[in-house]
Amino acid sequence: MDNNVTGFSRRGFLKSGGGVLAGMMIPAGVKGLFVKEKASISVDVNDVRGMVAPEIYGQFIEHLGRAIYGGIFDESTGHFRQDVLSAVKQLNTPLMRYPGGTVTKIYHWKDGVGPVDKRPVRRNLIWGGEDSNHFGTDEFMQYSAEIGAAPFLTVNMNTGTPEEASDWVEYCNANGNSYFATLRKTNGHAAPYQVKYWGLGNEEAAKEDAGLLQNPGDYIKRAWYFAKLMKLQDPGIKLVLVGDTDEWNRKVLQEMHPVCDFISLHLYAGTQPGKPASLFSSIAAMEKRIEETAKLIHELTPEKVENFNKWYRFPCRQKPVKIALDEWGIWESGGTGDYGLEVKYNWNHALGVATFFNIFHRHADVIGMATWAQTVNVLAPIMTDKERLYLQTIYYPMLMYRQLCGDRSVAVKVEGPTFEGNPALDVSATTKEGVLTLAVVNRDPKEDIEIALNKRGDWKVYVLNAPGTAVENTFGQDVVVHGERVLKGGSYTAPAHSISFLRINI
Ligand code: AHR
Repeated sequence: MDNNVTGFSRRGFLKSGGGVLAGMMIPAGVKGLFVKEKASISVDVNDVRGMVAPEIYGQFIEHLGRAIYGGIFDESTGHFRQDVLSAVKQLNTPLMRYPGGTVTKIYHWKDGVGPVDKRPVRRNLIWGGEDSNHFGTDEFMQYSAEIGAAPFLTVNMNTGTPEEASDWVEYCNANGNSYFATLRKTNGHAAPYQVKYWGLGNEEAAKEDAGLLQNPGDYIKRAWYFAKLMKLQDPGIKLVLVGDTDEWNRKVLQEMHPVCDFISLHLYAGTQPGKPASLFSSIAAMEKRIEETAKLIHELTPEKVENFNKWYRFPCRQKPVKIALDEWGIWESGGTGDYGLEVKYNWNHALGVATFFNIFHRHADVIGMATWAQTVNVLAPIMTDKERLYLQTIYYPMLMYRQLCGDRSVAVKVEGPTFEGNPALDVSATTKEGVLTLAVVNRDPKEDIEIALNKRGDWKVYVLNAPGTAVENTFGQDVVVHGERVLKGGSYTAPAHSISFLRINI
């Protein structure tokens, strides 16, 4: 890339008033003079776009390949793998989705509770192999508690029944002497688990999975039945309804919005062979999907439900409908393991993950949760062999966004260079307890970008980077470089292919 400034704003982005904290001026008509690319970021901390739900930093595990057995759980000892547990714990995820994914469509929760040696071994008809059921509901609840995450369960709407789903709610949440509450107690768990989030199926438009052909009308009919029996068990549960195309979503929202706390979207980005920058175009297309779905929600669903018939015998939703990105991630071909799902992630993918988080911040008003698919070995930040583990590049933005970003998304505008059709910089601005955090991703593989900081004071800067965009971690090798420094304002140069968190008291 040369140093031309075409495409920049030729005006300063400086607003008067206290809101704008970072910005720069580029002299009109200047081309080719700068050593570095230049950009402007303007922030208005008084223009709050939404509260960032902590649940956007969720994770997902599925009975698939080495995700649970060999990843989370060690069959040879019958215990959680401690090395994996501490790596997952460190991620500090607030939400964990289970047991699928596609496997939900053949998964029967009753196989996975009770004395371990009495649990049936089932064939995993979706992903292959056998499932010992040694990791089931109670183990999942224990795992969630150990990592400090709220559990999120998806119910089987294909080979399962509404009654089975309702029994699962009873097993998890009831506190009386009823059959399934007693069964949980007999299994050694006196206190109810209070599972709040329940997914009504998974990708129910995909007839390839378990063979049940569902159009939106079929899904709506079944989902009402499931919702009803589950809510009668516990009226406080929050339901995630399956989304798909706009046409599907439109019908589901129209018919089911009174009980739809979340409508789900599954977003997997990918890279075209030999074109690393295409990952960012793919992610940009996903931001559009989020915007389109948000538009439908606003068009079709009232913030507050009126006149919900009392004879449903449970309350309607109390809050506006939100989007659940209950599977999001980067899915590349060429992986190993079952269905090629053990994907190696390089540093470009870490820049992609950071971009996704910025998108979630920018759309905080409508995104209620997001669970990265998945956690260990399958499309995962954590990889294992029998004895060891390593953290993939993508682990680090997951870790840092949770630690450093605020819970209030504020307006941010970026003007700067592009590379291969994408803006080089992707930025989110959040605040919390008087601290502004700018999360700045410079996706350009070659050019540093200078950003003026016209707010004086101590900017604390944390930088994640790597020697290049194609580098990857593996056992015994971690290529990710962590930096920290303090700036006094003036300007900040975001290094090529870096993720920077710039923080200042406001
Ligand atoms: O995450 C892997 C698979 O991707 C899930 O099982 C399915 O829901 C999605 O298509």
